[in-house]
Amino acid sequence: MSVKFSFTINGKSIKGDVEDRTLLVQYIREHLGLTGTHVGCDTSQCGCCTVHIDGIPAKSCTMLAVQADGCDVTTIEGLEAEDGTLHPMQQAVLEEQGFQCAFCMSGFIMNTVALLNENQNPTRKDAAEWLSGNLCRCADYDKILTSVMRAAEITRGA
Ligand code: FES
Repeated sequence: MSVKFSFTINGKSIKGDVEDRTLLVQYIREHLGLTGTHVGCDTSQCGCCTVHIDGIPAKSCTMLAVQADGCDVTTIEGLEAEDGTLHPMQQAVLEEQGFQCAFCMSGFIMNTVALLNENQNPTRKDAAEWLSGNLCRCADYDKILTSVMRAAEITRGA
């Protein structure tokens, strides 16, 4: 069954019809062409599909597109400032080479952005706990956490 819905994504208003069974991640990738949000497991385990819904990180493979009706959604494509300035976590990942294959990286970045919105001075343990719902198949966690620490420094202007 097709359902009418509307939401905002990365500052752009979207109005339309969607099959009620369409997952949010499917809609984002296949209908909107925003392929920075990845699907790793499709079973709510890996966190690759993390986006923000009204500022809260959410696994977009575990919700229907219609559940985002009226919400403000942000994907990795919406993090960069209008002048092209990267978000501190994007910058930190580049500086620290905080990835290997990078398939999981957009999910880690989106979840870290939410962490830094709550706590600009996290410990490494805080960050590890916050990011425990994100998996890296290359097991590059040490460099990812180093990137989070660097992103916190950039955010604080240190
Ligand atoms: Fe959504 Fe893995 S693809 S949690």
